[in-house]
Amino acid sequence: MPQIKWTRWLFLLLMTAVLVSLSACASTDFQSWLDPQAPIAKKQVSMLYYTSWLGSFVLAAVIAAILIAVFISFRKNDELPKQSHGNVAVELGLIAVAIALVTAVAIPAIRTINSLRIDKVPLEDALVINITGYQWWWQFEYPDSGIITANEVHIPRGKNVIFNLDSADVLHSFWVPKLAGKKDLIPNQKNQLWFATDKDTPLGEYYGQCAELCLGAHAYMKTRVIVDSPEDYQKWVDSFSSNYEFTTSSDAAKGKQLFTQKGCGACHAIQGFTTGSPDKPNLTNFGLRNTVGAGLVASTKENVANWIANPQTMKPGNYMPTLWQEDDPNKDEETQAIAAFLLSLGKQSQTQATVGGINGN
Ligand code: CUA
Repeated sequence: MPQIKWTRWLFLLLMTAVLVSLSACASTDFQSWLDPQAPIAKKQVSMLYYTSWLGSFVLAAVIAAILIAVFISFRKNDELPKQSHGNVAVELGLIAVAIALVTAVAIPAIRTINSLRIDKVPLEDALVINITGYQWWWQFEYPDSGIITANEVHIPRGKNVIFNLDSADVLHSFWVPKLAGKKDLIPNQKNQLWFATDKDTPLGEYYGQCAELCLGAHAYMKTRVIVDSPEDYQKWVDSFSSNYEFTTSSDAAKGKQLFTQKGCGACHAIQGFTTGSPDKPNLTNFGLRNTVGAGLVASTKENVANWIANPQTMKPGNYMPTLWQEDDPNKDEETQAIAAFLLSLGKQSQTQATVGGINGN
């Protein structure tokens, strides 16, 4: 029958699609949650493995039972076996097995969920960070130190972090798979997310991604969590309070002027320089960030200049205006200068901190 052939092909196609999708779960990926590096993510992944193994066992048992039934029934002849309806012992047995299986999933699941309840976190020594989601970037505010920064958030290793989640526009979702599960940022609803790291969490950068379709540049709404040693975290915090000189080279000095001339300061706040707008990315200490455009590309001078010159080409739909005409002869020079200025922000204070440390030893 041609119809059977057609469904077989469809089945094969579906199985191939499933296999291809599974191959995307490589744990080496920067955003793989199958490679947990912090206690919360580890607990969540172990639940996944446990339920997957249990599910696989049930699947294998059911398939085996069907095969045995078919084999026994058709072993002797090709006729249908005796048809009957209902077997009290079998049905009660299956109900009991089903209850046992659900219980076997429910108990560890409830225990895990309970152990991850945010009200279990001792608040007195937790670091609180407010996250506001915007189309298509993140604002991080540290109420204790008054730091406001964008897209990259520093946390000290070993300290509990409570993120207060809010959104300025539509639904977003904060997700850094290797550290902890995700949670939605919903306008006018206070959500909280708990991050914990311990001595087994490698220091460094963790990739994150907005996990709730928020239109436009949703796919490019990325983030980075930088897990610092307590000392490095303190240095990073201190870099926001130092009164550093902004300009280190003539290029950067020119960029500083252009930043004002082009009106960048109307949107972007830089501590001690421009007040900007509270709902636009704060660029204080931009030079200490690893990426530009909400995790879009590495913050090399070339990329930053390109971002300033062609924001719409790099991240279509974002709210950065294009300030230079295509044929503006000064475009390259000016955007390079602004990039040099932005990349100098925070670098000096960091150097000072490092030099101070070396001298101190
Ligand atoms: Cu924000 Cu998707």
